[in-house]
Amino acid sequence: SFVNGSEIFSAARKGHYAVGAFNTNNLEWTRAILKGAQEKNVPVLIQVSMGAAKYMGGYKLVRDLVASEMEAMNITVPVVMHLDHGNYEAAKECIEAGFSSVMFDGHDLPFEENLAKTKEIVELAHAKGISVEAEVGSIGGEEDGVVGAGELADVEEAKQIAALGVDYLACGIGNIHGQYPANWKGLNFDRLKELADAMPDMPLVLHGGSGIPQDQVVKAISMGVSKLNINTECQIAFAEATRKYIEAGKDREGKGYDPRKLLAPGTQAITDTVEEIIDWIGTPAVD
Ligand code: G3H
Ligand code: ZN
Repeated sequence: SFVNGSEIFSAARKGHYAVGAFNTNNLEWTRAILKGAQEKNVPVLIQVSMGAAKYMGGYKLVRDLVASEMEAMNITVPVVMHLDHGNYEAAKECIEAGFSSVMFDGHDLPFEENLAKTKEIVELAHAKGISVEAEVGSIGGEEDGVVGAGELADVEEAKQIAALGVDYLACGIGNIHGQYPANWKGLNFDRLKELADAMPDMPLVLHGGSGIPQDQVVKAISMGVSKLNINTECQIAFAEATRKYIEAGKDREGKGYDPRKLLAPGTQAITDTVEEIIDWIGTPAVD
């Protein structure tokens, strides 16, 4: 069964490491992520966006799929089942559907409304032992229809949201979803420091983790980032491995067009990506 993310990410903040949060899209993605975490023997967070959940057939199906795969694969590491960038309705639905963690992303609401709705979600979730991520400022770019302008998180606003009892907090610090433009200015470490100093115990979440130079991520982790969100990097790895397989004509050899064969190289590429990331973000193995 799933675990709440509160302790896992608090321990990460205290220990100056991060735990990976990977987006799932389907059965292969789910298996690939679980396999990577199990092989490294580390806790992992599997998250689903509203768009991916709709594609897969709903939150209940996602929850059941991940739970069934864990059982079939004999997964022993702690797994957090999380909603990524949820609106108010989605967060409530996932609390009912058996997720162990939800993100309520109210960044596009007027601040008072973000505050009020986050408070409500925290109360509903905590009553059931479910952890909550909130967002202040915004993540640039677009992910599955969730668009952000990339404003830096305001420290006072972040403190007010944190005080509601949220378990981990996503802060805009110049990070962007999807691929980074060539003229990207990098993470804003001054703002990250202000946020981390103002909230010394709060695990901070770095969205848009794909494509940030590794040294910047490592520095951000040392300063208070405890949850690293990765989506695009796994998608690129999957697409590249699949393209290579097809371009090499492997799909024409033997029964290479069999979906189980066709999807295998891409699925393995996701596992490899997950394992590489786990290595350099320093997640310690569980006993
Ligand atoms: O919420 C998910 C992440 O922020 C993923 O961002 O696709 O840029 O890795 P990414
Ligand atoms: Zn995100």
